[in-house]
Amino acid sequence: MTAQLIDGNALSKQLRAQVATDTAKLKAQGLTPGLAVVLVGDNPASQVYVRNKVKACEDAGLHSVLEKYDATMTEADLLARVAALNNDESIHGILVQLPLPAHIDGQKVIEAISPAKDVDGFHIASAGALMTGMPGFWPCTPYGCMKMLESIGYNLKGKHAVVIGRSNIVGKPMALMLLQQNATVTICHSGTPDLKAMTLQADVIVAAVGKRNVLTADMVKPGAVVLDVGMNRNDESKLCGDVDFEGVKEVASYITPVPGGVGPMTITMLLVNTLESAQRALSEKQHA
Ligand code: GUN
Repeated sequence: MTAQLIDGNALSKQLRAQVATDTAKLKAQGLTPGLAVVLVGDNPASQVYVRNKVKACEDAGLHSVLEKYDATMTEADLLARVAALNNDESIHGILVQLPLPAHIDGQKVIEAISPAKDVDGFHIASAGALMTGMPGFWPCTPYGCMKMLESIGYNLKGKHAVVIGRSNIVGKPMALMLLQQNATVTICHSGTPDLKAMTLQADVIVAAVGKRNVLTADMVKPGAVVLDVGMNRNDESKLCGDVDFEGVKEVASYITPVPGGVGPMTITMLLVNTLESAQRALSEKQHA
């Protein structure tokens, strides 16, 4: 069998078009959704990421501000900028690009962002909201994975989902989202003694480790759906995921490629969250 691709570029295009339409509607009501992206230092990968985030906002008609600061910025100054953005009515989403320089406590900065503007979904209040099923912002990468499953009409009820990786940004929130859709969820990690025994039971596998070839064809049940969150380089320096794509695509029913899979969905869901934040702000204003 050859798996069908879940095309993250095509799905992103569709979802971003919807964001653009909804943004135009909001603008007609007098409110422009706004995202502030804060970058401290000159990490080359971060520079590319923030540029892509700002460009995606512009393309969809959202207002965006990019604040770039020198790597020597103090934690107190960054906290003061976050506080100012919390109080800025033109800003509905605040994203502080990670990693931050070593002298700044990243968690402290994240916790300083108002949960109402935490479009990254990294604040402890956002994590708690996801855990309890309360309204809040979901982290963009696992949220994008859920949209990919939705796009193929996949019903998680009664299915076994295996998540490989337990990060706060992907693995743990991914497991909670799958659970919320009534899947039976297993989280595997570096301490899992027999990963293959787990993945062979899975109807859905999400690989989010950050290591090549974590999932190979012999570890996949025929017909399983495989989502690859990994972003690695192979021996030829080409972008590749955590999944041995060439092998696994012969066993899975659906698979996401790298590049062009989960990657573009992350920024797409950032736009979705920022729009949602602006919509909530408008409705609060109208009901005030
Ligand atoms: N660094 C790498 N990915 C991300 C992300 O999604 N959000 C933030 N804030 N920093 C990142």
